[in-house]
Amino acid sequence: MASESRRWWQDALVYQVYVRSFADADGDGIGDLEGIRSRLGHIASLGVDALWLNPCYPSPQRDHGYDVSDYVDIHREYGSLELFDALVADAATHGIKVLMDLVPSHCSNEHPWFRAALAAAPGSAERARFYFRDGQDDGRAPPNNWQAAFGGSAWTRVDDDPADGQWYLGTFTPHQPDFDHTNADVQQMFVDVFEFWFDRGVEGFRVDAVAPTGKHPDLPDQPPIDGDIDILDITWLNPHTVFRPEGHAVWRDFRATLAAYEARHPGRELMMVAEAYVVRRPELLRKFTRPDEFHQMFNFDLMLSPWEPTSIARALHDPLDILADTGVTPAWTLNNHDIQRIVTRLGRADAHLPESWTNNNLVSSGADVDLALGERRARAMAALVFALPGSLYLYQGEELALPEVLDIPDDRRTDPIFALTAGATTGRDGCRVPLPWTTDPATSYGFSSPPAGDQAPVDEPWLPQPADWGDRSVAVEERRAGSTLHLYRELSAARRAHANSQPLAARALELGRDLVAVARGDLVVVVNATSAPVDIDLAHPALTDTTVVLSTTEQPTPSGSTIAADSTIWFCR
Ligand code: NOJ
Repeated sequence: MASESRRWWQDALVYQVYVRSFADADGDGIGDLEGIRSRLGHIASLGVDALWLNPCYPSPQRDHGYDVSDYVDIHREYGSLELFDALVADAATHGIKVLMDLVPSHCSNEHPWFRAALAAAPGSAERARFYFRDGQDDGRAPPNNWQAAFGGSAWTRVDDDPADGQWYLGTFTPHQPDFDHTNADVQQMFVDVFEFWFDRGVEGFRVDAVAPTGKHPDLPDQPPIDGDIDILDITWLNPHTVFRPEGHAVWRDFRATLAAYEARHPGRELMMVAEAYVVRRPELLRKFTRPDEFHQMFNFDLMLSPWEPTSIARALHDPLDILADTGVTPAWTLNNHDIQRIVTRLGRADAHLPESWTNNNLVSSGADVDLALGERRARAMAALVFALPGSLYLYQGEELALPEVLDIPDDRRTDPIFALTAGATTGRDGCRVPLPWTTDPATSYGFSSPPAGDQAPVDEPWLPQPADWGDRSVAVEERRAGSTLHLYRELSAARRAHANSQPLAARALELGRDLVAVARGDLVVVVNATSAPVDIDLAHPALTDTTVVLSTTEQPTPSGSTIAADSTIWFCR
């Protein structure tokens, strides 16, 4: 496909901003929109096309914004609608579009509609917007056996009044009641929410929790599960609430809303990217990206892959193959705010993806972490994904090769998973620690700025930063030749120079058992995902007349013919 006919989001580079942890402009220890504005230059230096803001709507922050209490405003700690407009305008001056995060599956228990539902009687119109059902056993037991994704029952009893006897459904936590999308009020509310943000210049949405949106209308019991299963996996195996046909009806309505808006606003190219863990089920990518559903869907298999050639090759080629004749491009990512950071994951020599996986400890291992090894592998993985057809979503801090913070004290952990599993699962705080910008501990390594003109000390950051955080800061990485920050900028430039002009398709190349190789037009990318140098046949027809345009190790391919351990090389004609 010629690049002229591409939609911007088909091969975009997107930077994910976890607002709470990016930059704090008013010194309260919590990131905010003004902080993002002040650091836009950093995002722009990575050559991105768009930024995606994690939810920044008003919220009690029980799940850090994934519990929305008002879909058409900005959380006060983060700023205001005026500041949001200013951010969109500033981003546009850098040629950067803004994507938001839509949470349609559930809201906060403090959303006015949910409060009204609690106050209203069973059977009322207010309760019909959610899943309120009579309990079993005269209201004493929940309506069915469904488990919540973050631990415990998915049902919460309305109150102790036996005259009520109803329970409500919260697939994630009791603070996040599920919407019933078959309800006309709910449908209309999301149409209005889309239009509100599109009118403010937002170009699209990452759509949260796609898997459990839509339920079996009768809410039957979840069938028994064979075998030993992590409690956090139970929900994802519930056929009555995960990947339901009722969900697809919601996505078709959403897509129609976008299409109608585009028709009224020529020139706008809006998009939605679906968040769902379709791990090892690439066929679902195709289903969710049918022409009247999502424009794109995250492919998380590569993010979850151990450092092992067969696994990487499969995670890479399955989505490319399954989408090959659809015109849909994959959405690649190596990190996000829910997953242990890649440097730590791949820094464990024996890291593996267990057959049974959870949203949190996807690669579980007790092995010591070798961060230098993890960083080499993370760089090699980045060089692979920057070359691929499709969009690439970066998560803030991966350009600094930040590791997961593993030793957050229990009393500072804020992820509801930690509390709801009684500490059995540590949760996701470790990948959300506020970013280090400088070496100055007095400003939380540049994360917090005192309000203008104020010399008062800044507040502690909302999650504690490790003592060596300054050594990993943007300022230090800027000064260090060959740093991962410089590599990311180089990769972004190389993507524009050598990858974006290639077709939106790629094929596997057989260059030997230990090498993962992909050919995309004139570009050939080769990954050595082993711990030893591997010979490469430079006389292979796919490599003749090519030159090395990029390498993740300091030594480019020797004129001999080996590729260094844990590294990636780009060859181009
Ligand atoms: C997926 C989000 O990425 C995660 O952070 C959140 O906790 C759940 N969905 C529930 O909204």
